[in-house]
Amino acid sequence: MATSIPLDAVGEDALFVALRRYWHPVAFADDLGADPVAATLLEEPLVLVRLDGEPVAMHDLCIHRGTPLSLGEVVDDQLRCAYHGWTYDASGRCTRIPARHGSTIPAKARVDRYRTAEHAGLIWVCLDDDPAMPLPTFPEADDPAYRKVRIPTYDWASSAARRVENFVDFSHFPFVHRGVLGDPDRPEIPDHEVVRDATSLRFALGLEEPANPLKADDPDAETIQRDPTDYVLTMPFTAYLNQPLPDAHHFVLFVASSPTTRDTCRSFSFCARNYDLDPSKDDEYVGFQEVVLEQDRRVVEAQRPEELPIDLAAELHVRGVDRVSIEYRRWLGEIAATARDGEPVNAASPTGTGSPRS
Ligand code: FES
Ligand SMILES: [Fe+2]
Repeated sequence: MATSIPLDAVGEDALFVALRRYWHPVAFADDLGADPVAATLLEEPLVLVRLDGEPVAMHDLCIHRGTPLSLGEVVDDQLRCAYHGWTYDASGRCTRIPARHGSTIPAKARVDRYRTAEHAGLIWVCLDDDPAMPLPTFPEADDPAYRKVRIPTYDWASSAARRVENFVDFSHFPFVHRGVLGDPDRPEIPDHEVVRDATSLRFALGLEEPANPLKADDPDAETIQRDPTDYVLTMPFTAYLNQPLPDAHHFVLFVASSPTTRDTCRSFSFCARNYDLDPSKDDEYVGFQEVVLEQDRRVVEAQRPEELPIDLAAELHVRGVDRVSIEYRRWLGEIAATARDGEPVNAASPTGTGSPRS
């Protein structure tokens, strides 16, 4: 059994509350069709549905008898509960109680509706009415020069923060991804700057990688020294990389992790490329990512505690190499402090009538 490093429970509790003020992905946009879908975000059960073509997220519990609304169906662009047919509009207001036809509907007959957005091929939800940051950007999402491929959704038994930190942790490549992304005999990480702007940490790093046929590398080469890859880590849980290859080719990954609970996450990812555009090649790109992900999963799921310690003293960091992690944990601590300092983080009574935007 793994030994736990005690959490600064106050800090992680505060972070968990503060995360309600951020946008998180809950579904691929293509998967939200005519039928309602259940999702979980920050331990809140959600029903996702399209009403009048727009995505809507509501609390997944009918006010009548506690039946999940995700079991229901869409009728005339409203959501009808599967049990007794109470029907809710896009604002969460009950508009119909079939067994009491003609009677007045009580004002309390409503469910919480949350801010919902369709953006970058995903459905995003913010559980607070006042998002602390805009939606993360995915520059290639609407760029016709790029072929974008979904990576199947994956659920990990780790916090979203552990998963995201793993994505931007370079010194594990030679060991976890031996022969795939690195070489244990060449484990050094070059110095790199980490620049912080209003929403993101930005950094660039050029590593030596094993030659990869999916990057059109010389088949006779063993390793390739890459030009610097641009990374953007948008707070709190979206990571993006753009790796330049010869001939103005670019390999792009966009990974948005969603905190389903404190210690579980669901990740939504796309890989994109502006070369090798034949759709029949897509499976090879997805397959490569799945190999890498499985190597990461077994390590990250085993980390203890499952939540990421935001107290920098809780784990040991190496200056330079772990610079991104240090900045990331520091920023998560600042986000947690917004809840601790009594900023308007309203976990008790979620609201939301925001309109979708892109
Ligand atoms: S439980 Fe939903 S209508 Fe009765
Ligand atoms: Fe990895």
